[in-house]
Amino acid sequence: MSADQFERVTAAADYVRERMGARRPKTGLILGSGLGGFADGLEDAVAIDYADIPHFPRSAVHGHKGRLVIGTRNGAMCVAMQGRVHLYEGHTAQAVAFPARVLVALGASTLIITNAAGGLQASWEPGTLMLIRDHIDMLRDHALRGPNDERFGPRFPDMTRAYCPTLRAMVKATAQAAGIALQEGVYVAMPGPCYETPAEVKMLQVLGGDATGMSTVPEVVVANHMGAKVIGISCITNKAAGITGEALSHDEVTETADRVRATFERLLSEILGKLSAGENPRG
Ligand code: HPA
Repeated sequence: MSADQFERVTAAADYVRERMGARRPKTGLILGSGLGGFADGLEDAVAIDYADIPHFPRSAVHGHKGRLVIGTRNGAMCVAMQGRVHLYEGHTAQAVAFPARVLVALGASTLIITNAAGGLQASWEPGTLMLIRDHIDMLRDHALRGPNDERFGPRFPDMTRAYCPTLRAMVKATAQAAGIALQEGVYVAMPGPCYETPAEVKMLQVLGGDATGMSTVPEVVVANHMGAKVIGISCITNKAAGITGEALSHDEVTETADRVRATFERLLSEILGKLSAGENPRG
């Protein structure tokens, strides 16, 4: 937003650039719950603690590591966020989205953003992967609220193609070729930290949502603001509240994320291979 924010993003990106040597990441990865380990598989990698990066917000959630890892996977040079911060931790949407701005400032023209989410489609079993086609923002703060800095992007960004249709077609074809089942749908961002009430889940279903979670939208917004393309993928870790009548727990979320991890990582790897091969028009 303000000029200060631009300077903070620049300072963070300058610091990372100094540490990453000759690496030139073209793809940014924001790894959701249970997926952070993917960054450990990057080759020829350098890892930088968030604590060392100027102005970077820090995550306190158990299981979120808090490192930026820059390295190669399947031929694609990536900058991966191992852990992210959430609104419910007390951060503003602008702070939550700050790292995504840094990834784009580092040269990432595509961001792959993943998360764990509750399924609003009653028939989707836990473990289902969902490509995000679009989102509904129910967060009570916005990453672009306040003065606009034109160096980032326009005051009123278009969100018609917030999740790049060309890349979505590529991801669907890639999943199919790899024999990985992939649904597609609308992600609804809720502020948390409570899981939704059954009445809220009914509301989100009526609104046209297919999955709901507590992240992703601020990062998607700033990526679009800065002209980067976005791929969003949710791991449906549980049926949303009230669908089965069973209580929801964070343990269930992490157990499902763990169970699906290998498949999710394979999909990410295949997608990165396609991005590096330039099989999609970018820009
Ligand atoms: N609701 C919101 N966020 C979530 C859920 C859910 O059911 N599961 C995982 N993250």
